[in-house]
Amino acid sequence: MAILVTGGTGYIGSHTVVDLLNNGYDVAIVDNLCNSKLEVLNRIYKITSKTPRFYQVDCTNEEAMREVFKKEKITDIIHFAGLKSVGESVKYPELYQFNNVGSSKILLKLMNEFDVKNLVFSSSATVYGIPDHVPLTEDDPVGGCTNPYGQTKLDIEFLLKDYAEQHKEANIAILRYFNPIGAHKSGLIGEDPQGIPNNLMPYVTQVAVHKLNHLNIWGDDYPTIDGTGVRDYIHVLDLASGHLAALRKLSEKPGLVIYNLGTGKGTSVLELVHAFEKANNITIPYVIGPRRDGDVAENYADVSKAEREMGWKAIFNVEDACRDSWNWQSHNPCGYDE
Ligand code: NAD
Ligand code: WQD
Repeated sequence: MAILVTGGTGYIGSHTVVDLLNNGYDVAIVDNLCNSKLEVLNRIYKITSKTPRFYQVDCTNEEAMREVFKKEKITDIIHFAGLKSVGESVKYPELYQFNNVGSSKILLKLMNEFDVKNLVFSSSATVYGIPDHVPLTEDDPVGGCTNPYGQTKLDIEFLLKDYAEQHKEANIAILRYFNPIGAHKSGLIGEDPQGIPNNLMPYVTQVAVHKLNHLNIWGDDYPTIDGTGVRDYIHVLDLASGHLAALRKLSEKPGLVIYNLGTGKGTSVLELVHAFEKANNITIPYVIGPRRDGDVAENYADVSKAEREMGWKAIFNVEDACRDSWNWQSHNPCGYDE
């Protein structure tokens, strides 16, 4: 009886796999390694003394995926696999549709064929588009996505809703993540972006490790506490535990459910930088630049539904995440490419 984790060697996937293994789940990973490294499996073993079964398979390859479904007795799927770079998606929108939406269609087809009932899907706060208020609840309108990546998440959410309508036995948890940061306490696994990071925390840690000169803060004239953008930064360990909570929820056969996974607390760019400096006793040089296209002033979650219905809430704060991100980066200055 296995949990199939697609994208399980990636950033959020690897932390979730560790949590699953530590809680006695039998795990099989499918990943094509387009944005992760095999070394992750060694690190997972170092943390858990367990090795998940691993298939280097592309989720858009229906035949290869069918072979995995034949070999494994899958009860539940956690579908992390996907491309996630906003900038790249603007350049290659068809690739994002093909990879993200295409792989999800194949997964649903195989779920139906092999009678797998439970699916947890990695969605994103990006589906809310440009919010006209915060905090965001799951009932707030979705749409108006500002980039093709976000549109793929929304398209997949609609596919899942249609599937759940047509397959009353299916149980699907759509998890809308806010801004994941942090790393495992061991410093053995963490976020390992290719090239110059787009996201704030990996950029900050690469400045701290002197791979980059200074941080560019994109705009300080937003109507926020200090003019810089406000986001809901959630520790990746909390996100991981959110997936275990979702699996437990699915065992109650709820049909399709949607949860925000965040902390419910907004933190500005400057607040995050100062928290990092304080937690790690490091100065982060920064320059204020223009606003970045497509950014919103404030975005954070109402997380009461996840607590009410799944008994889950985030336990780590931004300082914990700053300490753990630095622990990972300082011990792995070149990520998994040591
Ligand atoms: P990641 O890139 O570290 O992990 C994704 C994994 O999927 C990688 O290991 C990659 O090799 C694999 N993959 C991609 N396409 C594949 C395919 N066709 N077949 C097999 N494997 C494939 O990203 P992450 O940050 O861990 O994100 C995981 C999921 O969460 C993604 O779906 C992402 O869109 C979503 N998400 C991420 C964030 C974030 O900020 N990190 C926020 C919201 C949602
Ligand atoms: C956070 C804040 C920036 C970098 C993105 C995706 C979203 C989701 C999470 C997947 C903003 C500021 C950033 C820098 C900065 N991913 N910033 N200098 O944009 O909230 O969300 O990742 O689903 O879809 O859009 O995250 O980390 O890029 O930015 O000043 O070098 O940090 O302007 O205010 P974002 P981020």
